[in-house]
Amino acid sequence: MTPDTLLCDIGFIGLGVMGKNLVLNLADNNYSVAAFDLCEDKIAAVIEQDQLENTTNSKRVYGCTSYSQLLSQLKAPHIIVLSVPAGAAVDFVCEQLIAAGINDNAIVIDTGNSLWVDTVDRERKYQNDFLLFSSAVSGGEVGARFGPSLMPSGSPEAWARVKPIWQAIAAKVDATTGKPIERNKPGQVISEGEPCAAYIGPAGAGHYVKMVHNGIEYADMQLICEAYHILHTGLGFSAAEVGDIFEQWNNGKLDSYLMEISVEVLRHKSVDTGTALVDIILDKAGQKGTGLWTAMSSLEVGCPAPTIAEAVFARSMSSFKSLRTQASTRLKGPELTPLSEQEKQVIIEQLHDAMYCAKICAYAQGFQLMKLAAKEHGWTLNFASIAKIWRAGCIIRATFLQSITQAYERNEDLDNLLLDDFFVAQLSERQLNWRKALCSATMLGIPNPAMSSALAYYDAMRCDVLPANLLQGQRDFFGAHTFERNDKTDGKKYHVQWSTLERNTVAID
Ligand code: 6PG
Repeated sequence: MTPDTLLCDIGFIGLGVMGKNLVLNLADNNYSVAAFDLCEDKIAAVIEQDQLENTTNSKRVYGCTSYSQLLSQLKAPHIIVLSVPAGAAVDFVCEQLIAAGINDNAIVIDTGNSLWVDTVDRERKYQNDFLLFSSAVSGGEVGARFGPSLMPSGSPEAWARVKPIWQAIAAKVDATTGKPIERNKPGQVISEGEPCAAYIGPAGAGHYVKMVHNGIEYADMQLICEAYHILHTGLGFSAAEVGDIFEQWNNGKLDSYLMEISVEVLRHKSVDTGTALVDIILDKAGQKGTGLWTAMSSLEVGCPAPTIAEAVFARSMSSFKSLRTQASTRLKGPELTPLSEQEKQVIIEQLHDAMYCAKICAYAQGFQLMKLAAKEHGWTLNFASIAKIWRAGCIIRATFLQSITQAYERNEDLDNLLLDDFFVAQLSERQLNWRKALCSATMLGIPNPAMSSALAYYDAMRCDVLPANLLQGQRDFFGAHTFERNDKTDGKKYHVQWSTLERNTVAID
């Protein structure tokens, strides 16, 4: 029997980009890790990197070449972290652990971007074999290494055991200012600050919240790309010049990780050509599916989330490169009149406000979606807590999340983020510039599906009366689908014989 001192605190399966960096993060936080991957090179790589970076002289990462060896090398009760692709791979690993004799007091944590309904199913499916817990991880490679945002959900008992580990490895935020506490060196550990890891709710809730995080991420990225498109293609600024404009914006209300990396991408020079690398990146966007899932869920729960959906459609539109190239020679656009430098500066200021307003709408859509989903699935989501753990570590991290945190701390039951006094003021002050920026973009022939769908969302929210009255009339005309009346309080449904014959409004039960 191996003495406890030689057994590892945590088992880790899946040593890809995220997995490898989470292992090193765990090691930095003094957890010993038994690491397994089907690819033995990946095991060797993580052990080598740990030895390279490890200044403690104590071995922290132990390689395992089988599931049973992994289990034999763990302290009881076992905690095993999975970092494998969503879908069949998760079930494959779970089945292998069962075959290798995992005990029923073990906790298996799925940290991938699993579809939330799969997580609900798995918790039930494996309940007699082990405790399936889930915790989506956001922050990419650097986040996983030095402090991700973690969205755990599942059994509260499992969370009680995982919590100290999760709060140790998570990104940290200064409790007073809401600003991230930087951690970017191997071996560095941050013990102060609020960890960006908070229990989300029952199984599936955490993966749902991560899914919405990614939907918002898609919208955030699309808004930045639309601003770049207007500035670069519309106003003729070079990639580097757009980078300079974005750097200024990143020092103000639009500061965010995504804005920061966009400056880097725009300034990056190709080694081959010496020119802006972004100019030679093919304009066809990939997508692994989480943004699509978010848009689909918004349609299923009846939540208007047009900016998130348009961000997904924009990626699809970009994939039709040859069709767009063909159409570009056929479809006419506006006559372009040269703009003076002063006119360009005005558009830049208007565009800044347009981005900020559209960003507020995209987040309002995401939080509204989580609110409706929680109601539909019986979850109790704490939106201030969710905004808090998104202030650092994750891909959408930004000071902006502190404003959202404060909005929900003022009123956790906020009907919609747009109705928080702070955001009402921000939108009211900037909405005119938003409209002017979209007018300029339209006359420049530059598409801005995210920015303009956000304005349509904002204006629809402002409408006490929408044209759905005519729509109900249309539906009743061709399908006798009935309608309610705004001058009655009887809740009755009405149908009209929509013809040249006498029109009599009859109440039908
Ligand atoms: C994160 C990211 C990550 C995302 C990948 C691919 O939070 O760290 O959102 O989870 O899945 O970056 O995303 P795409 O859907 O754009 O391919």
